[in-house]
Amino acid sequence: MSDKKFELTDLSSGKKSLLPVRSGTIGPDVLDIASINKDHGVFTFDPGFGVTAATESKITYIDGDAGVLLHRGYPVEQLAEKSSFMEVAYLLLNGDLPKQEQLAEFTSSIRRHTMINESLLRFTNGFHHNAHPMAMVSAVVASMSAFYHDSMDINNPRHREIFAHRIIAKLPTIAAAAHKHSLGQPFVYPRNDLDYCSNMLHMFFSVPCEEYVVDPVAAQALDLLFILHADHEQNASTSTVRLAGSTGANPYAAISAGVAALWGPAHGGANEAVLAMLEQIGTVENIPKYLAMAKDKSSHFRLMGFGHRVYKNFDPRAKIIRTACHKVLQKLGRTDNPLFELALRLEEIALQDEYFIQRKLYPNVDFYSGVIYSALGIPRSMFTVMFAIARTVGWVAHWQEMISDPAMRIGRPRQLYTGCPARDYTSVDNR
Ligand code: ACO
Repeated sequence: MSDKKFELTDLSSGKKSLLPVRSGTIGPDVLDIASINKDHGVFTFDPGFGVTAATESKITYIDGDAGVLLHRGYPVEQLAEKSSFMEVAYLLLNGDLPKQEQLAEFTSSIRRHTMINESLLRFTNGFHHNAHPMAMVSAVVASMSAFYHDSMDINNPRHREIFAHRIIAKLPTIAAAAHKHSLGQPFVYPRNDLDYCSNMLHMFFSVPCEEYVVDPVAAQALDLLFILHADHEQNASTSTVRLAGSTGANPYAAISAGVAALWGPAHGGANEAVLAMLEQIGTVENIPKYLAMAKDKSSHFRLMGFGHRVYKNFDPRAKIIRTACHKVLQKLGRTDNPLFELALRLEEIALQDEYFIQRKLYPNVDFYSGVIYSALGIPRSMFTVMFAIARTVGWVAHWQEMISDPAMRIGRPRQLYTGCPARDYTSVDNR
């Protein structure tokens, strides 16, 4: 708690109270408003939680004006350049970078949990062939709560750790099962001799009739995208996981709620929507027409992959992915990529447009990620699933942080009621 205080005065009654100010290690201070209902009989109103800190957290820090993203203090640029997804996962979950033997132990534990119960496969195969993979993944993850119900005591740290390793290990297998089901191809079992991303590519792309050799360029590109998607503090899906988990719900069910929240086009579903939008725009000549639509308040069209609640500057992840696009496409020999060219021009034109300048709308993490996923052969409907695989690490880290906090309370927002005041029931003949 800092020494600073804010004075709150009710001008109608003249009643005053002092609001304590809390300071984090970095970032703006927050007003502690917990006492205002007791002192003044009022609640606060903040639709969309634009200025409300719902929790204290030590995991991720964003400075949206400066375009800074730190995981446990480490800048995302350094992690993207020097680290690996497994190392970042360990960092987010445990607070510090692992020593060699800790990383080896963690990675081997994740590898040992990659298989899923055969009943989950039968469940996946029960979906219609054209079911959206996000629907399948969120349902299959939710159904894991049925498999690990009695054996999961959320107050037991070892149970929590096993849950964390299980869900991180099994998400690629569940995603691959959904992918293979939609193609009508046989499920491919995980290979624990492969690293996390190579195994995912193997499960996605190998078929029983031929040998499949994982392209290290593809595995590395995926690893980078997973690092960049691993966590992003209290975003909509993470807050959903926290809220669901705060009731003491089974954590697999809470993660499933996070998958559902991520799916929306305003959040993780934007990566799929960006590619659809680029295909719709088609050519550079059409850009002005679509920009005009994005600015027109009577149209529902928005520039997908642009804008962010927190970043009012470049999303640092978008910058890294844009650079990676050039490198990956070159290494894969796919330099002739009209959609990437179109995306680059769209960004350039939008960033010179007064509407986007005034509102500080920049490309976000989803603007370029689909270009890489497409180049790796991942179908558009699977893009948000890729995001979910990576973000599972963040969801689990936040769930762990919340559950292990002795001060945890159920999340329960208030409302401003604008419905009918109390009235008497009238029988149906008298209405
Ligand atoms: N295209 C056109 N106009 C936009 C866009 C956009 N992509 N984004 C914001 N605006 C406009 C709004 O219309 C609003 O204009 P106004 O002030 O004239 O009313 C202003 O910019 C502020 O936008 P809000 O919607 O109030 O911002 P908010 O923080 O609520 O929404 C969001 C953020 C949802 C990301 C929004 O920018 C958006 O819809 N972007 C497109 C979808 C997208 O890319 N989502 C992915 C986000 S990253 C992630 O979740 C992984």
